[in-house]
Amino acid sequence: MRHHWLLLGACGWVLLILIFVRNLISIRAVDDYGERPGQSWTVPGTKVVKPIPASNPEKQLPKPTHQSSVVPTASDWQAVAEKRIELLSGVCKNSSLRNLTHVSISKFVLDRIFVCDKHKILFCQTPKVGNTQWKKVLIVLNGAFSNVEEIPESLVHDHEKNGLPRLSSLTPQEITHRLSTYFKFFIVRDPFERLISAFKDKFVKNPRFEPWYKHDIAPAIIRKYRKSHRDSDFAASGLHFEDFVRYLGDVEGRRRMDQQFGEHIIHWITYAELCAPCEIHYSLVGHHETLEQDAPHILKAAGIEQLVSYPDIPPGITHYNRTKVERYFSGISKRDIKRLYARYQGDFHLFGYPSPDFLLN
Ligand SMILES: *[C@@H]1O[C@H](CO)[C@@H](O)[C@H](O)[C@H]1NC(C)=O
Ligand SMILES: *[C@@H]1O[C@H](CO)[C@@H](O)[C@H](O)[C@H]1NC(C)=O
Ligand SMILES: *[C@@H]1O[C@H](CO)[C@@H](O)[C@H](O)[C@H]1NC(C)=O
Repeated sequence: MRHHWLLLGACGWVLLILIFVRNLISIRAVDDYGERPGQSWTVPGTKVVKPIPASNPEKQLPKPTHQSSVVPTASDWQAVAEKRIELLSGVCKNSSLRNLTHVSISKFVLDRIFVCDKHKILFCQTPKVGNTQWKKVLIVLNGAFSNVEEIPESLVHDHEKNGLPRLSSLTPQEITHRLSTYFKFFIVRDPFERLISAFKDKFVKNPRFEPWYKHDIAPAIIRKYRKSHRDSDFAASGLHFEDFVRYLGDVEGRRRMDQQFGEHIIHWITYAELCAPCEIHYSLVGHHETLEQDAPHILKAAGIEQLVSYPDIPPGITHYNRTKVERYFSGISKRDIKRLYARYQGDFHLFGYPSPDFLLN
Protein backbone atom coordinates (compact mmCIF):
# COMPACT_ATOMS: atom_id res chain seq x y z
CA MET A 1 0.00 0.00 0.00
CA ARG A 2 2.78 2.40 1.00
CA HIS A 3 4.51 1.71 -2.29
CA HIS A 4 1.49 2.85 -4.18
CA TRP A 5 1.43 6.18 -2.40
CA LEU A 6 5.13 6.71 -2.97
CA LEU A 7 4.71 5.95 -6.63
CA LEU A 8 1.79 8.32 -6.89
CA GLY A 9 3.81 11.06 -5.17
CA ALA A 10 6.74 10.51 -7.49
CA CYS A 11 4.49 10.72 -10.54
CA GLY A 12 3.04 13.98 -9.23
CA TRP A 13 6.51 15.46 -8.93
CA VAL A 14 7.53 14.36 -12.39
CA LEU A 15 4.36 15.93 -13.79
CA LEU A 16 5.02 19.20 -11.97
CA ILE A 17 8.60 19.32 -13.23
CA LEU A 18 7.46 18.61 -16.78
CA ILE A 19 4.93 21.45 -16.63
CA PHE A 20 7.56 23.78 -15.24
CA VAL A 21 10.06 22.91 -17.98
CA ARG A 22 7.40 23.30 -20.63
CA ASN A 23 6.56 26.78 -19.36
CA LEU A 24 10.21 27.73 -19.31
CA ILE A 25 10.63 26.66 -22.92
CA SER A 26 7.54 28.48 -24.09
CA ILE A 27 8.49 31.66 -22.31
CA ARG A 28 11.81 31.62 -24.09
CA ALA A 29 10.20 31.14 -27.45
CA VAL A 30 8.81 34.66 -27.52
CA ASP A 31 9.39 37.18 -30.21
CA ASP A 32 11.07 39.60 -27.85
CA TYR A 33 14.45 38.09 -28.45
CA GLY A 34 17.55 37.86 -26.37
CA GLU A 35 15.88 36.72 -23.19
CA ARG A 36 17.95 33.61 -22.78
CA PRO A 37 19.43 33.51 -19.34
CA GLY A 38 23.18 33.51 -18.95
CA GLN A 39 24.01 35.76 -21.83
CA SER A 40 26.88 38.08 -21.47
CA TRP A 41 26.10 41.61 -20.40
CA THR A 42 29.63 42.75 -20.41
CA VAL A 43 30.72 45.77 -18.47
CA PRO A 44 32.52 48.19 -20.73
CA GLY A 45 32.34 45.87 -23.70
CA THR A 46 34.22 46.50 -26.87
CA LYS A 47 31.51 46.69 -29.41
CA VAL A 48 31.61 45.36 -32.91
CA VAL A 49 29.70 47.80 -35.00
CA LYS A 50 28.31 46.10 -38.05
CA PRO A 51 27.67 47.79 -41.38
CA ILE A 52 24.25 49.29 -41.92
CA PRO A 53 21.99 46.56 -43.21
CA ALA A 54 20.50 47.51 -46.56
CA SER A 55 17.06 47.65 -45.04
CA ASN A 56 14.29 49.25 -46.96
CA PRO A 57 13.05 51.77 -44.34
CA GLU A 58 16.42 53.45 -43.90
CA LYS A 59 16.63 54.36 -47.55
CA GLN A 60 14.42 57.39 -47.01
CA LEU A 61 16.84 58.97 -44.64
CA PRO A 62 19.36 61.31 -46.11
CA LYS A 63 22.43 59.24 -46.76
CA PRO A 64 25.41 59.79 -44.57
CA THR A 65 28.54 60.58 -46.51
CA HIS A 66 29.86 57.03 -46.50
CA GLN A 67 28.86 54.07 -48.60
CA SER A 68 26.59 51.64 -46.83
CA SER A 69 29.22 48.92 -47.08
CA VAL A 70 31.56 50.97 -44.92
CA VAL A 71 31.36 50.62 -41.16
CA PRO A 72 29.64 53.76 -39.86
CA THR A 73 31.48 55.76 -37.27
CA ALA A 74 29.79 56.99 -34.13
CA SER A 75 29.49 60.51 -35.50
CA ASP A 76 27.79 59.25 -38.66
CA TRP A 77 25.20 57.61 -36.49
CA GLN A 78 24.83 60.77 -34.48
CA ALA A 79 23.91 62.49 -37.77
CA VAL A 80 21.37 59.78 -38.62
CA ALA A 81 19.78 60.17 -35.19
CA GLU A 82 19.61 63.95 -35.54
CA LYS A 83 18.01 63.70 -38.96
CA ARG A 84 15.32 61.47 -37.52
CA ILE A 85 14.45 63.99 -34.84
CA GLU A 86 14.40 66.76 -37.47
CA LEU A 87 12.05 64.73 -39.64
CA LEU A 88 9.85 63.97 -36.63
CA SER A 89 9.42 67.59 -35.63
CA GLY A 90 8.78 68.56 -39.26
CA VAL A 91 6.01 65.98 -39.63
CA CYS A 92 4.52 67.10 -36.30
CA LYS A 93 4.00 70.51 -37.90
CA ASN A 94 2.16 69.07 -40.93
CA SER A 95 -1.44 70.12 -40.34
CA SER A 96 -2.94 67.53 -42.68
CA LEU A 97 -1.55 64.75 -40.48
CA ARG A 98 -2.46 66.51 -37.27
CA ASN A 99 -5.10 64.17 -35.97
CA LEU A 100 -2.81 61.19 -36.54
CA THR A 101 0.28 62.66 -34.95
CA HIS A 102 -0.94 64.75 -32.02
CA VAL A 103 -2.23 63.24 -28.81
CA SER A 104 -2.48 64.66 -25.32
CA ILE A 105 -0.04 63.64 -22.62
CA SER A 106 -2.66 61.60 -20.81
CA LYS A 107 -2.31 59.19 -17.93
CA PHE A 108 -2.27 56.46 -20.57
CA VAL A 109 0.86 57.95 -22.14
CA LEU A 110 2.49 58.53 -18.74
CA ASP A 111 1.83 54.88 -17.94
CA ARG A 112 3.95 53.91 -20.96
CA ILE A 113 7.02 55.84 -19.79
CA PHE A 114 9.51 54.37 -17.33
CA VAL A 115 11.76 56.41 -15.11
CA CYS A 116 15.41 55.95 -14.24
CA ASP A 117 16.11 58.79 -11.82
CA LYS A 118 19.66 57.76 -11.05
CA HIS A 119 20.76 58.43 -14.63
CA LYS A 120 17.99 60.83 -15.65
CA ILE A 121 16.46 58.65 -18.35
CA LEU A 122 12.88 58.23 -19.54
CA PHE A 123 11.98 55.28 -21.74
CA CYS A 124 8.67 54.97 -23.54
CA GLN A 125 7.65 51.36 -24.01
CA THR A 126 6.62 50.26 -27.50
CA PRO A 127 6.05 46.49 -27.55
CA LYS A 128 7.60 44.09 -30.08
CA VAL A 129 10.94 45.79 -30.54
CA GLY A 130 13.03 44.24 -27.78
CA ASN A 131 11.61 46.41 -24.97
CA THR A 132 12.15 43.80 -22.31
CA GLN A 133 15.87 44.27 -22.82
CA TRP A 134 15.71 48.01 -22.28
CA LYS A 135 13.56 47.59 -19.20
CA LYS A 136 16.11 45.22 -17.75
CA VAL A 137 18.89 47.68 -18.49
CA LEU A 138 17.00 50.40 -16.62
CA ILE A 139 16.09 48.13 -13.70
CA VAL A 140 19.79 47.40 -13.21
CA LEU A 141 20.69 51.09 -13.54
CA ASN A 142 18.08 51.97 -10.91
CA GLY A 143 19.92 49.64 -8.56
CA ALA A 144 17.26 47.10 -7.56
CA PHE A 145 19.42 44.36 -9.10
CA SER A 146 23.13 44.30 -9.74
CA ASN A 147 22.94 42.63 -13.13
CA VAL A 148 20.46 41.62 -15.74
CA GLU A 149 20.63 37.87 -15.16
CA GLU A 150 19.47 38.33 -11.57
CA ILE A 151 16.15 39.82 -12.59
CA PRO A 152 13.49 37.12 -12.44
CA GLU A 153 11.44 37.04 -15.63
CA SER A 154 8.25 37.47 -13.63
CA LEU A 155 9.53 40.74 -12.19
CA VAL A 156 10.44 42.53 -15.44
CA HIS A 157 6.85 43.56 -16.02
CA ASP A 158 5.89 43.90 -12.34
CA HIS A 159 6.30 47.60 -11.76
CA GLU A 160 5.27 47.46 -8.12
CA LYS A 161 8.36 45.46 -7.29
CA ASN A 162 11.07 45.93 -9.91
CA GLY A 163 12.20 49.40 -8.95
CA LEU A 164 11.32 50.83 -12.36
CA PRO A 165 8.50 53.31 -11.72
CA ARG A 166 6.14 54.64 -14.34
CA LEU A 167 6.09 58.37 -14.94
CA SER A 168 2.38 58.34 -14.03
CA SER A 169 3.26 57.44 -10.42
CA LEU A 170 4.85 60.86 -9.84
CA THR A 171 3.33 64.27 -9.06
CA PRO A 172 2.59 66.74 -11.88
CA GLN A 173 5.60 68.86 -10.90
CA GLU A 174 7.90 65.85 -10.81
CA ILE A 175 6.59 64.75 -14.20
CA THR A 176 7.11 68.16 -15.81
CA HIS A 177 10.61 68.40 -14.41
CA ARG A 178 11.60 65.01 -15.77
CA LEU A 179 10.00 65.56 -19.16
CA SER A 180 11.93 68.77 -19.65
CA THR A 181 15.33 67.70 -18.34
CA TYR A 182 15.82 63.92 -18.76
CA PHE A 183 17.17 61.93 -21.71
CA LYS A 184 14.10 60.48 -23.42
CA PHE A 185 13.90 57.70 -26.00
CA PHE A 186 11.85 54.93 -27.54
CA ILE A 187 12.20 52.36 -30.34
CA VAL A 188 10.04 51.90 -33.45
CA ARG A 189 9.91 49.54 -36.41
CA ASP A 190 8.08 49.43 -39.74
CA PRO A 191 4.41 49.99 -38.74
CA PHE A 192 2.93 47.15 -40.81
CA GLU A 193 5.60 44.67 -39.83
CA ARG A 194 4.91 45.59 -36.24
CA LEU A 195 1.20 44.79 -36.66
CA ILE A 196 2.08 41.42 -38.17
CA SER A 197 4.37 40.75 -35.23
CA ALA A 198 1.65 41.71 -32.73
CA PHE A 199 -0.89 39.54 -34.53
CA LYS A 200 1.42 36.53 -34.51
CA ASP A 201 2.51 37.01 -30.94
CA LYS A 202 -0.91 37.59 -29.38
CA PHE A 203 -3.39 35.73 -31.56
CA VAL A 204 -1.43 32.90 -33.14
CA LYS A 205 1.36 31.86 -30.80
CA ASN A 206 0.51 33.54 -27.50
CA PRO A 207 3.65 32.26 -25.81
CA ARG A 208 3.16 34.15 -22.55
CA PHE A 209 -0.10 32.41 -21.68
CA GLU A 210 -2.25 35.49 -22.00
CA PRO A 211 -5.62 33.80 -22.62
CA TRP A 212 -7.59 37.05 -22.96
CA TYR A 213 -6.29 37.67 -26.47
CA LYS A 214 -7.74 34.46 -27.85
CA HIS A 215 -10.72 34.16 -25.53
CA ASP A 216 -12.00 37.73 -25.23
CA ILE A 217 -10.44 40.06 -27.79
CA ALA A 218 -10.37 37.75 -30.83
CA PRO A 219 -14.07 36.71 -30.58
CA ALA A 220 -15.11 40.37 -30.18
CA ILE A 221 -13.17 41.36 -33.32
CA ILE A 222 -14.47 38.37 -35.27
CA ARG A 223 -18.10 39.10 -34.36
CA LYS A 224 -17.80 42.65 -35.62
CA TYR A 225 -15.43 42.32 -38.57
CA ARG A 226 -15.52 38.87 -40.10
CA LYS A 227 -17.28 39.06 -43.44
CA SER A 228 -18.65 35.56 -43.44
CA HIS A 229 -20.24 34.31 -40.27
CA ARG A 230 -20.55 30.81 -41.59
CA ASP A 231 -17.52 29.85 -39.50
CA SER A 232 -19.76 29.09 -36.56
CA ASP A 233 -16.97 27.97 -34.29
CA PHE A 234 -15.02 31.19 -33.66
CA ALA A 235 -12.62 29.73 -31.14
CA ALA A 236 -11.57 26.90 -33.40
CA SER A 237 -10.90 28.99 -36.49
CA GLY A 238 -9.23 31.79 -34.55
CA LEU A 239 -8.65 35.39 -35.57
CA HIS A 240 -7.58 35.84 -39.20
CA PHE A 241 -5.15 38.59 -40.16
CA GLU A 242 -7.90 39.96 -42.40
CA ASP A 243 -10.28 40.40 -39.42
CA PHE A 244 -7.50 42.14 -37.52
CA VAL A 245 -6.75 44.52 -40.44
CA ARG A 246 -10.42 45.45 -40.78
CA TYR A 247 -10.68 46.14 -37.06
CA LEU A 248 -7.49 48.24 -37.02
CA GLY A 249 -8.58 50.34 -39.99
CA ASP A 250 -12.01 51.15 -38.55
CA VAL A 251 -11.20 54.40 -36.78
CA GLU A 252 -14.70 55.15 -35.49
CA GLY A 253 -16.00 51.64 -34.98
CA ARG A 254 -13.15 50.39 -32.86
CA ARG A 255 -13.19 53.21 -30.32
CA ARG A 256 -15.70 51.56 -27.98
CA MET A 257 -14.05 48.17 -28.37
CA ASP A 258 -10.64 49.56 -27.56
CA GLN A 259 -11.97 50.99 -24.31
CA GLN A 260 -13.15 47.52 -23.37
CA PHE A 261 -9.86 45.93 -24.37
CA GLY A 262 -8.01 48.21 -21.95
CA GLU A 263 -4.22 48.22 -21.84
CA HIS A 264 -3.90 45.25 -24.17
CA ILE A 265 -4.25 47.60 -27.13
CA ILE A 266 -0.68 48.81 -26.54
CA HIS A 267 0.37 46.03 -28.91
CA TRP A 268 -1.35 47.60 -31.93
CA ILE A 269 -2.28 51.26 -31.38
CA THR A 270 -0.02 53.77 -33.10
CA TYR A 271 3.36 54.85 -31.76
CA ALA A 272 1.97 58.37 -31.66
CA GLU A 273 -0.78 57.22 -29.28
CA LEU A 274 1.68 55.32 -27.10
CA CYS A 275 4.42 57.89 -26.69
CA ALA A 276 3.04 61.31 -27.80
CA PRO A 277 6.19 62.09 -29.84
CA CYS A 278 4.85 65.45 -31.03
CA GLU A 279 4.15 66.66 -27.49
CA ILE A 280 7.14 65.19 -25.71
CA HIS A 281 10.46 66.25 -27.17
CA TYR A 282 12.28 62.95 -27.30
CA SER A 283 16.06 63.03 -27.46
CA LEU A 284 16.28 59.96 -29.65
CA VAL A 285 14.17 57.46 -31.57
CA GLY A 286 15.80 54.12 -32.25
CA HIS A 287 14.85 51.94 -35.20
CA HIS A 288 14.49 48.20 -34.75
CA GLU A 289 15.84 47.68 -38.29
CA THR A 290 19.16 49.25 -37.32
CA LEU A 291 19.28 48.19 -33.69
CA GLU A 292 22.90 47.06 -34.09
CA GLN A 293 23.83 50.73 -34.53
CA ASP A 294 21.07 52.27 -32.44
CA ALA A 295 21.52 50.29 -29.24
CA PRO A 296 25.15 51.32 -28.60
CA HIS A 297 24.36 54.84 -29.77
CA ILE A 298 21.49 55.16 -27.28
CA LEU A 299 23.65 53.90 -24.41
CA LYS A 300 26.31 56.43 -25.34
CA ALA A 301 23.88 59.32 -25.78
CA ALA A 302 22.29 58.50 -22.43
CA GLY A 303 25.73 58.43 -20.81
CA ILE A 304 25.50 54.85 -19.59
CA GLU A 305 27.69 53.00 -22.08
CA GLN A 306 30.29 52.35 -19.38
CA LEU A 307 27.70 50.71 -17.14
CA VAL A 308 25.79 48.28 -19.33
CA SER A 309 25.69 47.05 -22.85
CA TYR A 310 22.83 45.79 -24.94
CA PRO A 311 22.83 42.00 -25.34
CA ASP A 312 23.84 40.38 -28.61
CA ILE A 313 21.20 40.75 -31.27
CA PRO A 314 20.59 37.48 -33.14
CA PRO A 315 21.60 38.06 -36.78
CA GLY A 316 18.80 38.82 -39.23
CA ILE A 317 16.11 39.21 -36.59
CA THR A 318 15.73 42.96 -37.01
CA HIS A 319 15.72 43.11 -40.82
CA TYR A 320 12.64 44.33 -42.60
CA ASN A 321 11.16 41.42 -44.55
CA ARG A 322 9.06 42.59 -47.47
CA THR A 323 8.22 39.03 -48.53
CA LYS A 324 6.65 38.42 -45.14
CA VAL A 325 4.62 41.64 -45.34
CA GLU A 326 3.44 40.77 -48.87
CA ARG A 327 2.47 37.31 -47.79
CA TYR A 328 0.38 38.50 -44.86
CA PHE A 329 -1.44 41.10 -46.92
CA SER A 330 -2.06 38.91 -49.96
CA GLY A 331 -5.76 38.17 -50.23
CA ILE A 332 -6.72 41.25 -48.22
CA SER A 333 -8.71 43.79 -50.21
CA LYS A 334 -7.06 47.04 -51.35
CA ARG A 335 -9.85 48.92 -49.65
CA ASP A 336 -9.04 47.37 -46.27
CA ILE A 337 -5.31 47.92 -46.73
CA LYS A 338 -5.88 51.56 -47.67
CA ARG A 339 -7.98 52.09 -44.59
CA LEU A 340 -5.31 50.52 -42.46
CA TYR A 341 -2.68 52.75 -44.03
CA ALA A 342 -4.87 55.81 -43.48
CA ARG A 343 -4.91 54.95 -39.80
CA TYR A 344 -1.17 54.28 -39.51
CA GLN A 345 0.29 56.77 -42.00
CA GLY A 346 1.13 59.16 -39.18
CA ASP A 347 3.62 56.59 -37.87
CA PHE A 348 5.03 55.97 -41.36
CA HIS A 349 5.70 59.69 -41.84
CA LEU A 350 6.88 60.54 -38.33
CA PHE A 351 9.60 57.91 -38.34
CA GLY A 352 10.59 57.99 -42.01
CA TYR A 353 9.24 54.63 -43.11
CA PRO A 354 8.36 54.56 -46.83
CA SER A 355 4.67 54.10 -47.52
CA PRO A 356 4.03 50.49 -48.61
CA ASP A 357 3.08 51.32 -52.20
CA PHE A 358 3.54 47.69 -53.22
CA LEU A 359 0.43 46.93 -51.14
CA LEU A 360 -1.60 50.03 -51.91
CA ASN A 361 -1.45 50.20 -55.72
C1 LIG B 1 1.84 66.71 -45.12
O1 LIG B 1 1.43 65.36 -45.22
C2 LIG B 1 0.72 65.07 -46.41
C3 LIG B 1 0.18 63.66 -46.30
O2 LIG B 1 1.20 62.73 -46.27
C4 LIG B 1 1.64 65.26 -47.60
O3 LIG B 1 0.97 64.98 -48.80
C5 LIG B 1 2.16 66.69 -47.60
O4 LIG B 1 3.10 66.87 -48.62
C6 LIG B 1 2.77 67.07 -46.28
N1 LIG B 1 3.04 68.49 -46.24
C7 LIG B 1 4.22 68.98 -45.96
C8 LIG B 1 4.33 70.45 -45.91
O5 LIG B 1 5.19 68.28 -45.75
C1 LIG C 1 -8.32 62.86 -39.45
O1 LIG C 1 -8.99 63.85 -40.16
C2 LIG C 1 -9.45 63.47 -41.43
C3 LIG C 1 -10.06 64.67 -42.08
O2 LIG C 1 -9.36 65.80 -41.78
C4 LIG C 1 -10.42 62.33 -41.32
O3 LIG C 1 -10.79 61.90 -42.60
C5 LIG C 1 -9.77 61.18 -40.56
O4 LIG C 1 -10.70 60.16 -40.33
C6 LIG C 1 -9.23 61.66 -39.24
N1 LIG C 1 -8.49 60.59 -38.62
C7 LIG C 1 -8.64 60.30 -37.34
C8 LIG C 1 -7.76 59.23 -36.83
O5 LIG C 1 -9.40 60.86 -36.59
C1 LIG D 1 11.05 36.52 -44.87
O1 LIG D 1 9.77 35.99 -44.64
C2 LIG D 1 9.50 34.83 -45.40
C3 LIG D 1 8.03 34.50 -45.21
O2 LIG D 1 7.67 34.52 -43.89
C4 LIG D 1 10.43 33.72 -44.94
O3 LIG D 1 10.18 32.54 -45.67
C5 LIG D 1 11.87 34.17 -45.16
O4 LIG D 1 12.75 33.22 -44.65
C6 LIG D 1 12.11 35.51 -44.49
N1 LIG D 1 13.41 36.01 -44.91
C7 LIG D 1 14.35 36.36 -44.04
C8 LIG D 1 15.61 36.89 -44.62
O5 LIG D 1 14.19 36.26 -42.84
